Amino acid sequence: MKTRVLVVDPLDPSPDVVAEAARLLRGGGLVAFPTETVYGLGTNALDASAVARLFAAKGRPANNPLIVHLADAAQVAEVASSWPESASRLGDRFWPGPLTLVLPRRDGVPDIVTARGPTVAVRVPAHPVAQALLRATALPIAAPSANRSTELSPTRAEHVLRGLDGRIDLLLAGGPTAGGIESTVLDVTTMPPRLLRPGLIGVAELEAVIGPLAPARSLTVAARDGPQPLPSPGMMPRHYAPRTPMECIEAGKESQRLALLLGENRRVGWVAFADPDRVIPSGVLLRVLPCDPAGYAAQMYAVLHELDAAGLDRILVTLPPDRDEWLAVRDRLRRAASN
Ligand code: TXA
Ligand code: MG
Repeated sequence: MKTRVLVVDPLDPSPDVVAEAARLLRGGGLVAFPTETVYGLGTNALDASAVARLFAAKGRPANNPLIVHLADAAQVAEVASSWPESASRLGDRFWPGPLTLVLPRRDGVPDIVTARGPTVAVRVPAHPVAQALLRATALPIAAPSANRSTELSPTRAEHVLRGLDGRIDLLLAGGPTAGGIESTVLDVTTMPPRLLRPGLIGVAELEAVIGPLAPARSLTVAARDGPQPLPSPGMMPRHYAPRTPMECIEAGKESQRLALLLGENRRVGWVAFADPDRVIPSGVLLRVLPCDPAGYAAQMYAVLHELDAAGLDRILVTLPPDRDEWLAVRDRLRRAASN
């Protein structure tokens, strides 16, 4: 299959480009497009064979359900069987935006979308290109991140091609995505609701709207095969990972580790947190990320993609502080480093 690439203005997508993408989606095609978090790989959520091709293109295990993207909250009723009060409050406050809600599923949603589970994950994305596609198709669009399974999520069009060129029908190239990491996933089928994946919307922001969440369980469960859907597949320990071996390190311990790796003649990339106040050993490819969580998240995957393509033996990443506002970033870094 040849993957077509159409450039699209992220703020004002041309109707012709949107119409072409919508035509492909209606016909069961696979179309990658930007959202405000990361690029998604979309297909018609109600077409089981199209969704099966999407799983195959990503190499995604069948026990990992998909997020269904909707144009607005009114469309939730097409895929979910109930709309709890907490969901309604959260939807009013955060949609369109980077929040995914897990709800009881409705009959008619193909089993493959929900990994045969009793729930369906839904989100209303804010990105103008995603919104235009949802409105043009008037379909619920299943869209995981547009990367091969377990690999880094894409925040730029070229990241999508790196993993999926030749495996999907169309890529809408709409520039870098602003958020940089994936949406927050919240299960609202239980009282109180439970966080399944930390993301761009923080726990404090959610709790300000609906009160305390269920106490966080360990966000990692062992990866497993078999028919059971995972509580949240983002919980697989290895996920969002570069191909180059990566390790996380606490701030202050980098110099020693770098010296050791360089002593073994390894080519090393280092992702530092804020400006490192020490001399950088020559031979280290340094990238410095901002010291605010939103700024860090926006650039994190792009920097990891860049270092991953640089032919290094090891990527070392300084962990940002162990504080609530860094929960999502630290979660992604730990998964990227697990093997
Ligand atoms: O920001 C995002 O959420 C991006 C953009 C494209 O929207 N999408 C994304 O999709 O990250 P994906 O497939 O890479 O991650 C889906 C996450 C997984 O962690 C999975 O656990 C969770 O959503 N999920 C999907 N359906 C679920 C369900 N029924 N119950 C629990 N978790 C579910
Ligand atoms: Mg993903």
